[in-house]
Amino acid sequence: MDVIDILVTKRDGGELGPEQIDWVIDAYTRGAVAEEQMAALNMAIVWRGMSRAEVARWTDAMLRSGERLDFSDLPRPTTDKHSTGGVGDKITLPLTPTVAACGAAVPQLSGRGLGHTGGTLDKLEAIPGWRAELSPEEMRERLLDVGAVVCAAGAGLAPADRKLYALRDVTGTVESVPLIASSIMSKKLAEGTGALVLDVKVGSGAFMKDTASAGELARTMVDIGNDNGVRTVALLTAMDAPLGRRVGNALEVAEALEVLAGGGPDDVVELTVTLAREMLTAAGPTGGKDPADALRDGSAMDAWRRMIAAQGGDPDAPLPEAAESRPILAPESGTLTRLDAHAVGVAAWRLGAGRARKEDPVSPGAGVTLHAKPGEQVRTGRPLFTLHTDDPERFDRAAEALAGAYEINGEYDPLPLVIDRVG
Ligand code: URA
Repeated sequence: MDVIDILVTKRDGGELGPEQIDWVIDAYTRGAVAEEQMAALNMAIVWRGMSRAEVARWTDAMLRSGERLDFSDLPRPTTDKHSTGGVGDKITLPLTPTVAACGAAVPQLSGRGLGHTGGTLDKLEAIPGWRAELSPEEMRERLLDVGAVVCAAGAGLAPADRKLYALRDVTGTVESVPLIASSIMSKKLAEGTGALVLDVKVGSGAFMKDTASAGELARTMVDIGNDNGVRTVALLTAMDAPLGRRVGNALEVAEALEVLAGGGPDDVVELTVTLAREMLTAAGPTGGKDPADALRDGSAMDAWRRMIAAQGGDPDAPLPEAAESRPILAPESGTLTRLDAHAVGVAAWRLGAGRARKEDPVSPGAGVTLHAKPGEQVRTGRPLFTLHTDDPERFDRAAEALAGAYEINGEYDPLPLVIDRVG
């Protein structure tokens, strides 16, 4: 097989055959195709796209590059959720124990944050003692005794994607529906879940800025999941403003705890309950309770405490707080009509909540508290945001990110929280 033939075929708008796809993914994973050749092929895919058959085969080849976990013999049905990433998106934290409390098991492999979007593992690592690295045997034990596990993907799962994603990140080839869909779905199929709900974010804080491209990504991933025997549905949900009122690792854990205690911001509660119901429906009958009841009666909180303790965390330990905080005051009174998710994510990142390179540490207490959400009233001289950081030199750059991020008394035309469903 000749790699030049493969990239010229795609460059000229042709369709790659299954043998070509299998060969190029395998050869690249083994190091037999050079990084610059794969980068050129990725760029050709960004421009030319892929047919449904090509995406399916590309995903399958990435899945076959590593091991595939299998939890089909567990006594409970398994179901999982994947979000395409956003700002303040802490939903996995209350969602996973809620679904476990309702009778299904959740084998969730998560990632760390890169750039302005946070990562679930960074959030959970704000809890003293909590450990993300588990073996497949430990995952199985947690699913049996707690019904929920959130951990890092081991090196053996979809190794082709690990290499390919790092290359796409530095070659401007992340934004492509077939490449994003195959990357996400190869990892989700490898984790061994029986059902999957995709939360495809739309808006300024998301990869997909408009509903049409988010819908195309959702359709592509739903087809890949169902074609591979995993019952898959997708919701398109708003990411024009941040979710909830806190952005940053420990800040988001604290907000998740409010939801698990039966309170918390309306949008976080609504999305948790909506996604939990979708996950349970996709899993099949569990005979369990409704997610809203599990949040109200304390059983979701009990599952959370067991889930955290089973991975070495202390659910009663105080959460880390940043050393310094500074308010940003509202310049006028009126209705907050816009709050840009991307800018808030950048501010939290500049305060130390995120990382610029994979190996950078994050500051668990850093981030942004939002004192008003779009549609709410603000008053001149009252705090609009509070910035939290361990390094006060970071305040000014974070404040710069927020300078054009909001509007008071402008036009108010928010996206609905759940925009569409693709099933
Ligand atoms: N998340 C992934 O895992 N892969 C992508 O390509 C984009 C987001």
